[in-house]
Amino acid sequence: MRTQVAIIGAGPAGLLLSHLLHLQGIESIVLESRTRQDIESTIRAGVLEQGTMDILNDSGVGERMRAEGALHHGFDLAFDGQRHRIDLRELTGKAITVYAQHEVIKDLVKAREAAGGQLLFGVRDVALHDTATDKPWVTFTHHGEPARIDADFIAGCDGFHGVSRPAMPQDGREDYQRIYPFGWFGILVEAPPSSDELIYARHERGFALVSTRSPTVQRMYFQCDPNDSVDHWSDDRIWSELHARTEGHDGWRLTEGKIFQKNIIGMRSFVSTPMQAGRLYLAGDAAHIVPPTGAKGLNLAVSDVNLLARGIEQFYQQGTGERLERYTQDAFKRIWRAEYFSWWMTSMLHTFADASSFQREVQRAELENVVASRAMATALAENYVGAF
Ligand code: APR
Ligand code: PHB
Repeated sequence: MRTQVAIIGAGPAGLLLSHLLHLQGIESIVLESRTRQDIESTIRAGVLEQGTMDILNDSGVGERMRAEGALHHGFDLAFDGQRHRIDLRELTGKAITVYAQHEVIKDLVKAREAAGGQLLFGVRDVALHDTATDKPWVTFTHHGEPARIDADFIAGCDGFHGVSRPAMPQDGREDYQRIYPFGWFGILVEAPPSSDELIYARHERGFALVSTRSPTVQRMYFQCDPNDSVDHWSDDRIWSELHARTEGHDGWRLTEGKIFQKNIIGMRSFVSTPMQAGRLYLAGDAAHIVPPTGAKGLNLAVSDVNLLARGIEQFYQQGTGERLERYTQDAFKRIWRAEYFSWWMTSMLHTFADASSFQREVQRAELENVVASRAMATALAENYVGAF
């Protein structure tokens, strides 16, 4: 097989890249190791920044997001028994949309299929070859048969555990990483929303987050030991932890419901540089990870592939690789701001077992500053909506 861009991974990064390239008349083939059913049902994040919504809308895949996504104009910070609203609209003129990542995936798969795009699911043994030359190629197994794609470019959109980053030359590589000493215990619940907006809560027992998926399904998280097991957590134990961490003195109560999924996620900040070598380009989680506090992961994947698509477009339409050459440099500006912001939100809201009493008081004072100072609240809100 031959194509212009071979894309590894059908997450939000790979699928959106394929879609954006198609709109410019550029062909691609997407190779995905999981099944379509699996990628369309795995529950991940769900907060879309204005810029992400704009890209999905402008590229013609925003219809269902506009109809079914919930526009949120603010969120609450809860600590010391009080809730404080961060008014995103008033502070930034912008909002965010809560629309699950797997719904974005479904919309993109549908658009690629409608356009006759090639998506190969269930592929195995993907390997990258000659990426330093202008004739890179990919080998893999599909339906038990060996296969090969020759391409002009390879886009590594295969997430943190994929094969693309390890295929980059090791010379000159630098990785930046921070692993947090806690994880998030996440649940999905059949219940109406407890709150119109998200609640980020800091409590001495640990962080908690009240989020939503739809009018009938709610998403909640609480800070936990990353090595804990969901089997240690009965429904009763989960609810008592969530009540304790989120409820305060104002009479607001969390609405319980049937818990139908439990999972524990680890938390890390990670950036790998450079994001390109020869004809291989990395995008999304393949190149960087943020902890989920602040919900930047999906938005960063979208902004990476938007830049990459424009670079590839320029290459074919104007015959210059100028934008592609500065892809890492251009992508890094946003990536490091998001790394900073999600590290800040994480540090401000979680309890650290080894924190001294001094550090705990300073952490509380920081939250007080954020809600007392319009300047601090504006900085938080601008970062949250991605207003830069
Ligand atoms: N061969 C083919 N496909 C692979 C391989 C491989 N060797 N390794 C991984 N994949 C696929 C995965 O199955 C997955 O569907 O690549 C895809 C990568 O998708 P994501 O992990 O979702 O990464 P990305 O598209 O960069 O999106 C980042 O997704 O998980 C969230 O929090 C993350 O919101 C962020 C966003
Ligand atoms: C989610 O709903 O999954 C979610 C929301 C906000 C975050 C992280 C995750 O900051």
